[in-house]
Amino acid sequence: MKTIAVFAIKGGVGKTAVAVNLAYAAATQSARRTLLWDLDGQGAATFTLRLAAAAGSSQRKLFAADAALDAMIRPSAYPRLDVLPADKSLRHLERILAADGARRLKKMLKGFDKDYDRVILDCPPGLTALAEEVFRAADMIVVPLLPSPLSARAFDQLAAHLAKHHRKGPPLLPVWTMVDRRRALHRATVDAVPDRVVIPYAVAVEAMAVNQAPVAATAPSGPAARGFSRLWAEVEAALV
Ligand SMILES: Nc1ncnc2c1ncn2[C@@H]1O[C@H](COP(=O)(O)OP(=O)(O)OP(=O)(O)O)[C@@H](O)[C@H]1O
Ligand SMILES: [Mg+2]
Repeated sequence: MKTIAVFAIKGGVGKTAVAVNLAYAAATQSARRTLLWDLDGQGAATFTLRLAAAAGSSQRKLFAADAALDAMIRPSAYPRLDVLPADKSLRHLERILAADGARRLKKMLKGFDKDYDRVILDCPPGLTALAEEVFRAADMIVVPLLPSPLSARAFDQLAAHLAKHHRKGPPLLPVWTMVDRRRALHRATVDAVPDRVVIPYAVAVEAMAVNQAPVAATAPSGPAARGFSRLWAEVEAALV
């Protein structure tokens, strides 16, 4: 089993869009038994796949080692793709992780080893205690970046943080998101790094929140679906 975290220090850069579409690609394109773990209390990935946490379900209890790991997992509408839905208790996670006795993410993921080939983590933004857990547990970190100087700066900060505090930590795979080639700054920024995967700005991605479906399920031949597919192929190639 391999764990791929979708993480960025910045908010609103397309993490959830990337996480949902990578999870779908893992399950369909690569026929992997896949778990999408929604670690963000906003629950955007959970919503996009038409799921909700079961009544009384609480990831807080999961992290506090008070709940069985697999009891909260729900099947999605797609073959081989399961979801561990977000719930409001995730807002307490920082406090739980700060305390001794919290069940650690890396150990929790070992519990999924038998049932899944790929686990995708949709992370909230920020260098939080949860992010540190993710850096200890993931095999790879996919980092969505807007084609802007501030995004580049946030990526450099992340790379420096990992180099300093997680020297044997997972590799970072940056990906451009929301690229609009009509804009000169986008063109110049993206063209300066020719081999990095580009997810274009696309109505099909925006519409995920309305359709509640991955892009490849609604607009499979569009440029965004092709971008996510290429990104997944790169992730898979780097993992095996
Ligand atoms: N490639 C894209 N084209 C068009 N819109 C996009 C694209 N990627 C993301 N969006 C839109 O941008 C907004 C933010 O995307 P998303 O929720 O994936 O970001 P995020 O990094 O997960 O945000 P947060 O930090 O709040 O978790 C959403 O409204 C989403 O629909
Ligand atoms: Mg998100």
